[in-house]
Amino acid sequence: MDKIFVLGAGAMAESFIKGVSQDPDFAVDHIYVINRHRPERLVELQRVYGVTPASSMEEARGANVIVLTVKPYDVRAALRELLPYLDGQIIISFAAGIPISFMEEITERRAHVIRTMPNVPVAVLEGAIAMAVGESVDAKSVDVAKRLLEKLGIVVELAEELMDAATAFSGSGPGFVSYFLEAMEDAAVGLGFSAEMARQLLIQTVVGTAKVLEEWGLSPAELKARVTSPNGTTHAGLTVLADRGMGEAIAHALVEAKRRSKEMGEQFTKES
Ligand SMILES: NC(=O)c1ccc[n+]([C@@H]2O[C@H](COP(=O)([O-])OP(=O)(O)OC[C@H]3O[C@@H](n4cnc5c(N)ncnc54)[C@H](OP(=O)(O)O)[C@@H]3O)[C@@H](O)[C@H]2O)c1
Repeated sequence: MDKIFVLGAGAMAESFIKGVSQDPDFAVDHIYVINRHRPERLVELQRVYGVTPASSMEEARGANVIVLTVKPYDVRAALRELLPYLDGQIIISFAAGIPISFMEEITERRAHVIRTMPNVPVAVLEGAIAMAVGESVDAKSVDVAKRLLEKLGIVVELAEELMDAATAFSGSGPGFVSYFLEAMEDAAVGLGFSAEMARQLLIQTVVGTAKVLEEWGLSPAELKARVTSPNGTTHAGLTVLADRGMGEAIAHALVEAKRRSKEMGEQFTKES
């Protein structure tokens, strides 16, 4: 990998840079970063990670990979500015809801587009990243993109039709899980725990449960069955959750989030 051009210098750009900069085989100063208004932000990224602030979009020329980390409503303008410098690069887009076909059209098919949906844990390199690949992207380019994105977490390649579902599931997932955890924590404080104690037990319960699922290779249903003895405490609590329709509420939440993802994508790609 010779050169990466990161378009946008916000939270997602920083997560990407952080992940890739941990690879000792990669020369971090070969990552060029650009934004619009805040040169001091580029200087900060240079100081912390050793990347190179780009002076103009022209620096995208000669990059193997362009990482698009602007907000969805800025994608059209950013790609138009980039267009004169496109010549077969791979574009890895982080922009939620923006279809591959839209980006291919704006870039006049002068680049090979990969669309991703990351989630917030990429910031600590524990992300879940859904990735869909445009038709013009060859297997080698897919490998290059995967290798880079795997520095930020796990990467699951899927058909683009599933991207709105991925946005609802792994994209919004940290919000849904946090909603459940907030209720658990409030309830724990209600039972007499100090806030600090509740937080400690809460986080370790989640991390421990996730690790057990992963290391033992169990499904959530299997683990639930293992920890639930007939008429025991877990059984008593789960009965309340089932009676109050928690499973159904979660299913509805994902359907609604998916619908909203689709709607937002349509809004952003409408000609203004
Ligand atoms: N944050 C998340 O948790 C998350 C999760 C999933 C997906 N995403 C996606 O990731 C993308 C980035 O999100 P973010 O939170 O990192 O956004 P952000 O912090 O607002 O950063 C956006 C960056 O894009 C730059 N930018 C916008 N238009 C530009 C242009 N024409 N030329 C150069 N730079 C330009 C901005 O520069 P200035 O500051 O100079 O204007 C800013 O540095 C979004 O599309 C979002 O949908 C984010």
